[in-house]
Amino acid sequence: MRIDAQDPKNSYIEKLVAVTDPGLLAIEARLRAADRWGVNIGANEGRLLALLVQVSGAKKVVEIGTLFGYSTVWLARALPANGQPAIGQTDGRVWTIERDPISAAHARQGFLDCGVAERIDLLEGEASEKLRELESAHSPFDLVFIDANKSAYPEYLDWAERNLRVGGLVIADNVFLGGAVFYDAKPDSVSLRQWQGMREFNQRLLSGGKFTSAFVPTSEGLLVGVLV
Ligand SMILES: C[S@@+](CC[C@H](N)C(=O)[O-])C[C@H]1O[C@@H](n2cnc3c(N)ncnc32)[C@H](O)[C@@H]1O
Repeated sequence: MRIDAQDPKNSYIEKLVAVTDPGLLAIEARLRAADRWGVNIGANEGRLLALLVQVSGAKKVVEIGTLFGYSTVWLARALPANGQPAIGQTDGRVWTIERDPISAAHARQGFLDCGVAERIDLLEGEASEKLRELESAHSPFDLVFIDANKSAYPEYLDWAERNLRVGGLVIADNVFLGGAVFYDAKPDSVSLRQWQGMREFNQRLLSGGKFTSAFVPTSEGLLVGVLV
């Protein structure tokens, strides 16, 4: 969520979507204190995630990349009202993956502050390992939100193809890779693996035949696809 605050369009949007609830504001305060505010999605993207959970009727959601749980709260709050299962049940849940223990601790506190802790399983560790565990325990899923290490996006897409139900959604943030994907030669700002990986990811989602997809051209680039 790095936005140009000078652009009147952005200030207009920010004003209308401003968050007022104390739980999300507490997460924002923690992110700011840790100088991580802006690494998370913004409130308008949060609204879009929530809207996509609601219109798709998603109950089983996987998020790769929790940070302090800002996006996770938007996803969890959008689960169906009757999707408040007892701990241990497998529907109406968000499984979110974070490898950094400090971020994971902040996220756990945020889930309590926002009143959604019972809907979320925070899996602490490497995404590749946690995704393997999720695949064997809970597949298929309704929605996957990808927002972690950029070079692994193609592997996360492989996983989504195997583990989404038909009609399930894949949503990915930062697909413009700070603008690096726009160029046919790799810019110095990114590694070859990141640049090739993200270009492959976008290409597969947009024209690989397995998804109906579209860019949402936020400043960082969101991609939304439905498995057909
Ligand atoms: C962009 S932030 C996520 C932001 C969050 N989705 C939000 O909008 O509030 C990416 C997070 O993914 C985590 N991450 C990166 N690579 C990972 C990996 N291979 N396995 C697990 N977590 C990873 C990072 O530690 C970081 O907290």
